[in-house]
Amino acid sequence: MTRQIAIANQKGGVGKTTTTFNLGAALAERGAQVLMIDLDPQSALTASCGLDPHSITRTTFTLLTRDASLASCLRNLSPNLHLLPGSVDLATAEVTLANKANAPFRLRDALANGQVPLDYVLIDTPPSLGLLTVNALVAAKELLIPVQCQFLSMRTVRALLETVWLIHKKMNPDLDLLGVLATMYRADSLHSKEVVAELRSVFEDKVFEMVIPDENAIAESPATSQSVIAYKPDSAGARAYRQLAEVIHHAQ
Ligand SMILES: Nc1ncnc2c1ncn2[C@@H]1O[C@H](COP(=O)(O)OP(=O)(O)O)[C@@H](O)[C@H]1O
Ligand SMILES: [Mg+2]
Repeated sequence: MTRQIAIANQKGGVGKTTTTFNLGAALAERGAQVLMIDLDPQSALTASCGLDPHSITRTTFTLLTRDASLASCLRNLSPNLHLLPGSVDLATAEVTLANKANAPFRLRDALANGQVPLDYVLIDTPPSLGLLTVNALVAAKELLIPVQCQFLSMRTVRALLETVWLIHKKMNPDLDLLGVLATMYRADSLHSKEVVAELRSVFEDKVFEMVIPDENAIAESPATSQSVIAYKPDSAGARAYRQLAEVIHHAQ
């Protein structure tokens, strides 16, 4: 069974792309076959993988709007880490798709018809609750919500959960909350501790035990087109993402 996990939070800059990339690398390092999907028009995930989102022709956009097959749009980054790249024209997909039948189901159907053997599909989403994020939440079975420890917006998380609840009820009864991940945690910051405490009081054991530290190695690694796991394998960030992969692997 393929685990399909959407990484979502409509707030920008909370660590969605960073988590998709590093969790993907950590799961692949464990030997799993992993596909990362870039659904963000800004395509930071694609750029982090060392690809130019402006020059790729077969992308998530092609898959969603032209009925292209999954296999024909994939890039192999390593023998078991694969990317479905994003591109700037995803920005127009919300409009293009609006005229199509079953718009919210395009990604789900493309994955179901994909016939590519995978252990994990990780879907990186844009900072909005529009049709692209809805496609991710309809295609996924599990939701991972990264929350930045430097600034907690409980209102944002609640709005996300309301959308998730609606999608659960109307379009995807299989969707479950995998967990809430505290990112950019600073051990020397009282505020970071307060944010984690607040998250635990609301989401209880759905908050992952490990937190992702605020660390230069994590911020620097995309510029080298590597995950932090490859860039600084012994860094606290690499260790935290490996632990996350371990916990997620055993979560089912
Ligand atoms: N744990 C971290 N430590 C330091 N910098 C981080 C960390 N996680 C993310 N960043 C940086 O913060 C910025 C926003 O992260 P990103 O993953 O792109 O957020 P999102 O995808 O939610 O918009 C990026 O520049 C990224 O490199
Ligand atoms: Mg992003």
